Amino acid sequence: MKVLVIGGGGREHALAWKLAQCERVQTVFVAPGNGGTAADPALHNVPITDVVELADFAIAEKVALTVVGPEAPLAAGVVDLFRARGLRIFGPTQAAAQLESSKAYAKDFMQRHGIPTALYATFTDAQAAHAHVDEHGAPIVIKADGLAAGKGVVVAETLAQAHQAIDDMLGIHGPGTQPSRGAARVVIEEFMTGEEASFIVVCDGRNVLTLATSQDHKRIFDGDLGPNTGGMGAYSPAPVVTPNVHARVMQEIIHPTIAGMAKDGAPFTGFLYAGLMIDEQGRPRTVEFNCRLGDPEAEVILMRLKSDLFELLMRATDGTLDQAELQWDRRIALGVVMAAHGYPATPRKGDVISALPRSTPELQVFHAGTTLADGVLATSGGRVLCVTALGDSVRQAQQLALDAVRQVRFDGAQWRNDIGHRAIKH
Ligand code: AMP
Ligand code: GLY
Repeated sequence: MKVLVIGGGGREHALAWKLAQCERVQTVFVAPGNGGTAADPALHNVPITDVVELADFAIAEKVALTVVGPEAPLAAGVVDLFRARGLRIFGPTQAAAQLESSKAYAKDFMQRHGIPTALYATFTDAQAAHAHVDEHGAPIVIKADGLAAGKGVVVAETLAQAHQAIDDMLGIHGPGTQPSRGAARVVIEEFMTGEEASFIVVCDGRNVLTLATSQDHKRIFDGDLGPNTGGMGAYSPAPVVTPNVHARVMQEIIHPTIAGMAKDGAPFTGFLYAGLMIDEQGRPRTVEFNCRLGDPEAEVILMRLKSDLFELLMRATDGTLDQAELQWDRRIALGVVMAAHGYPATPRKGDVISALPRSTPELQVFHAGTTLADGVLATSGGRVLCVTALGDSVRQAQQLALDAVRQVRFDGAQWRNDIGHRAIKH
């Protein structure tokens, strides 16, 4: 069977790598892919990003299953389009993808269905937003509505930062001023304390199967300092999700979400990612929903998945997930992202990459922002590689990943040396 993976980051490299190992899978196309998927003889890059052309390609090639990595094509309706043309595709419809693409939709949904999350209010009017912030004080969280790849969120420690964020997102609507190019709507939220974790499930519209838990590291620098990024590293499992927390997440967040989406006429099919905040008492609340696998969470989760991913996704697209079961490697997977010079603000492209370590069953180098041209591998995006290792402890997996990271050469490479720190006992 032929499979098509849409996307070109580390998550899609990991998906393609895993799918290529499946018994019934003969060919894996990746559109558009990256330098890593280009270099792998088991994978075939397809230089297409337009969703209509992708559907044409899937029909022409008799692709049995398409898997969508990133949120943008989902929000653009790629699943609706493929289904309308009789193609099997795994992911949420455009309507269901609003759980990620619109923060206001997600917050309203959670409130309507009693799903625990931070208190919030939605504003289009800057004056009202400023007044709300003055009333509630700092710390407070300001979010632009719409897909912003994690960059549309300001966790304001002070009132001044909160007011600035509102001006940046809504524009200053005073006499004689122009509204800025920012979002048309902001969500202002209560600041939640606790530890974050990524909780991702596979859904077929009705049934749910949980994937292994994981934890991302969003800040660029060691010690969780510096600006937010798409994610600088992850590990799985996340010990903060104890069996008790796991049960509460399923009962209080996941099941009500799946039931609520079905009830609202937008049954959720695809990977559903609940970003959690778990407080001292083990109470989970939802920070956000994503309608896809996380990146770099996918790399560590798929490194631990022992079951056949193709069979799983076929069941998920047949609506028979209740008959599936997953097997996991009991070891810890830990991925360290190597980012380009200037990331996250202004990542530089074109730095030549060399000295990549050889893959082993315990070590995989997933590519993200890389290109391969005339045999030369170079950087082409903010996050360049995700070096992922399996170990018997978090420390061992971290050591193995970092040893490999330190071999890799490209100018300006940035990475964190403390991925997994919350799970390492000092
Ligand atoms: P989001 O894009 O909604 O996931 O937000 C990005 C990051 O901002 C999250 O991973 C959290 O670290 C932080 N964040 C978002 N909302 C809140 C909140 N209500 N309280 C505390 N931290 C938050
Ligand atoms: N790593 C966070 C995300 O994929 O949204």
